[in-house]
Amino acid sequence: MTEHKNETTSAPEAVYFIFGATGDLARRKLFPALYSLYREGKLGERFAIVGLARRPRTDEQFRDDVHSSIREFCRYKPKENEEWDAFAKHFTYLSLDTGKVEAFAPLKAHTEQLEASYGIPGNRLFYLALAPELFGSVSRNLRDGGMLESNGWHRLVIEKPFGYDYPSAEKLNEEIRQVFREDEVFRIDHYLGKEMVQNIEVIRFANAFFEPLWNKNHIANVQITLSETVGVEDRGAYYNKSGALRDMVQNHMLQMLTMIAMEPPARLDPESIRDEKVKVLRSVRRYLSEEDVRGEIVRGQYSSGSLKGKELRGYREEDNVDPESVTETFFAARLFVENFRWAGVPFYVRTGKRLPVKSTEIVVEFKNVPNNVLFARKQDLQPNLLVIRVNPMEGIYFKINAKKPGNDMKIQPVAMEFCQSCQVGINTPEAYERLIFDAARGEGTYFTRWDELAAAWKIIDPIAAAWREHNIAPSTYPAGSWGPKQADDILEQDGYHWWPVNGQEEDNVIWVSNTGK
Ligand code: BG6
Repeated sequence: MTEHKNETTSAPEAVYFIFGATGDLARRKLFPALYSLYREGKLGERFAIVGLARRPRTDEQFRDDVHSSIREFCRYKPKENEEWDAFAKHFTYLSLDTGKVEAFAPLKAHTEQLEASYGIPGNRLFYLALAPELFGSVSRNLRDGGMLESNGWHRLVIEKPFGYDYPSAEKLNEEIRQVFREDEVFRIDHYLGKEMVQNIEVIRFANAFFEPLWNKNHIANVQITLSETVGVEDRGAYYNKSGALRDMVQNHMLQMLTMIAMEPPARLDPESIRDEKVKVLRSVRRYLSEEDVRGEIVRGQYSSGSLKGKELRGYREEDNVDPESVTETFFAARLFVENFRWAGVPFYVRTGKRLPVKSTEIVVEFKNVPNNVLFARKQDLQPNLLVIRVNPMEGIYFKINAKKPGNDMKIQPVAMEFCQSCQVGINTPEAYERLIFDAARGEGTYFTRWDELAAAWKIIDPIAAAWREHNIAPSTYPAGSWGPKQADDILEQDGYHWWPVNGQEEDNVIWVSNTGK
């Protein structure tokens, strides 16, 4: 969909409040995103950014932090001298104890002063890069501290995890909703900000030849892989409570599945699009029994191993991880979307840490031509594939069958690739740039609405409950491998296999590509 409601070129004048301004997310993602938006003229000049955290910092120190974050993580390198100073002067810092409502009075005064000096009409965007336990109390203190009394709009941007299960998510949502309306809340799933995830709707709905094929009659299965080479790094304490199910599946994996499976929306507005996504989530088969969970879901945990010649320790040896932990670092499943379009088509999903490559890919495998057709009888024909490459390479390729030049009727697979990220001059925006820009424009399409989130938790909760109640511990897999063997078995049972990711080409496939390979 090329047009959404607010197709403006620059964000309205606003004050951006970054709670958790000394944290990792701000440093790695938010400051670089704000700088890129600025460089592209999307923030204009009438904006202010207020960094907030508990530790004391002067404006100068804070601007230095922002500079070093941009130098390290931004796709634009900071310009020097006056140009940098012109950007940096928009940043100020206040030390704030978010638990104390009286601490918000100086923030209010500071904000009013900034609004007066930049001519900002009271628009305020609150980005909570904070632990989720604080979302409710910070929202209340924003209200009780008078921060929502200006004339402009007020928006709350929050990060995952949104709850630990459905009941905790619902409680958190109620706390937030006592202060903010649903259309003022922007729940981030950064996968929705990725270029190729957004491109799924264009590929599907702007090409006439896909729609007639996009269903159970022509699609054999869909495979979604989100593999990472990293382990849990320094996030052991968080990860050990969440595991792959809550960290990746509840949000990113289900969102990608939803984009592939949704019906075309009646209109291009955020609510119509999200209505369709909710319907998909409500149609996903729930695995309620022990038997279902054992048969359809694979739970894995990495043990020691090696990757590219480097020895790696097992998950249980990682810092801040319980040495007897049964948290999963790998998840695979055979899911079904039980509606007219998809009944019976398996959606195989897998994600894990310490896998051999970093890659996010969606493979749509089409049904093969009937066996009695001349060519299929004589040759071992491969199915047609449409592969959407989300990360790190961005693009798509199709795999088709074509005649091998020559007199004998030989057929060979040909992969035709359009690598978007390989094009000269393309500097794809980071997910956070789009998302901050969208939130500032009030464009909610690529944020998770509450009913989407609720529906996702209702798929996840029974799986977690079965693991807990029936003591289903993860199977181990060596770091650097593709996870437990059961993840291959669930496809083999159906006569399929995982297609290799990341351009690991199979023999005899001819590639036609703009990557030059
Ligand atoms: C985050 C998870 O949401 O996504 C991380 O918490 C994971 O565990 C990350 O590493 C992956 O995102 P990306 O954009 O690097 O694929």
